[in-house]
Amino acid sequence: MAHALIFDSGVGGLSVSAEIRTCLLDLQQTYIADDQFRPYGEKSDAALKARLPALLWTLCETVKPDIAVIACNTASTSALSEIRAVLKIPVIGVVPAIKPAAKYTQTGRFAVLGTPSTVRQKYVDKLIQEFAPTQTIIRHGSTKLVSLAEDKLAGRPVNLDALTAEIAPLFIDPKVDSVVLACTHFPLLIDELSAVAPAGISWIDSGQAIARRVKSVIASLRKFGPPRPGPDIALLIGPNADEPRKSAFLAYGFERVVGLVPHKGFESKVERRHQDK
Ligand code: DGL
Repeated sequence: MAHALIFDSGVGGLSVSAEIRTCLLDLQQTYIADDQFRPYGEKSDAALKARLPALLWTLCETVKPDIAVIACNTASTSALSEIRAVLKIPVIGVVPAIKPAAKYTQTGRFAVLGTPSTVRQKYVDKLIQEFAPTQTIIRHGSTKLVSLAEDKLAGRPVNLDALTAEIAPLFIDPKVDSVVLACTHFPLLIDELSAVAPAGISWIDSGQAIARRVKSVIASLRKFGPPRPGPDIALLIGPNADEPRKSAFLAYGFERVVGLVPHKGFESKVERRHQDK
């Protein structure tokens, strides 16, 4: 069986990892949380394009996965082609679930809730033009929800008043009947979101679609051999591998959680490799 690298700025990718685990129990997962650079949603495209290809290249050279899953809407919508250009393995990104939401909505009005970076991306404009040209869509960017999801998985209580205030702009139009969760952190708050939102709202994310895509790419690799060639390990970049956070990764099926500090100059190393090609 194969080995996948699952990448996000923090715990958000766990919502994708869990879906992948459900349909590919034998897949080995190495999870990377780039805590040092979170929140991605507040960074410029230039900053993400400068960091992510170099970081992913360094990680893949070390971890040697068969595929990489960029389990982050912000990284995928801003830097996926740059990441693909430096990796030699299949790379699967996350696409905001605008197409399924456009099919689902009964009122023709839905919201896209992502990070500030994701909701302003041209890629999202294109998805809307292609799949929801006649619908009315409210776009809302939130970094607060990312930190509330991090709080929850670090064992801290989620501030429901803050959550209510944060999502209020989505429901100014009472006809909005569904919300695209266009950040992988947000499905981790689904119980809290459902508790504070107006009744009857549907929440749509890409987790299951990504898991299906991973399954079909893994099948095409035709990697046979023992199930799970090694343990599932989570590597947390920066000084955030404290006990409550470690417990969250263990609860999502990771066997070991390790803090990691990337060596200085990894960006210039990947640049040199590219110039040598
Ligand atoms: N989980 C990430 C996403 O899907 C972003 C969180 C962040 O802002 O770092 O967009």
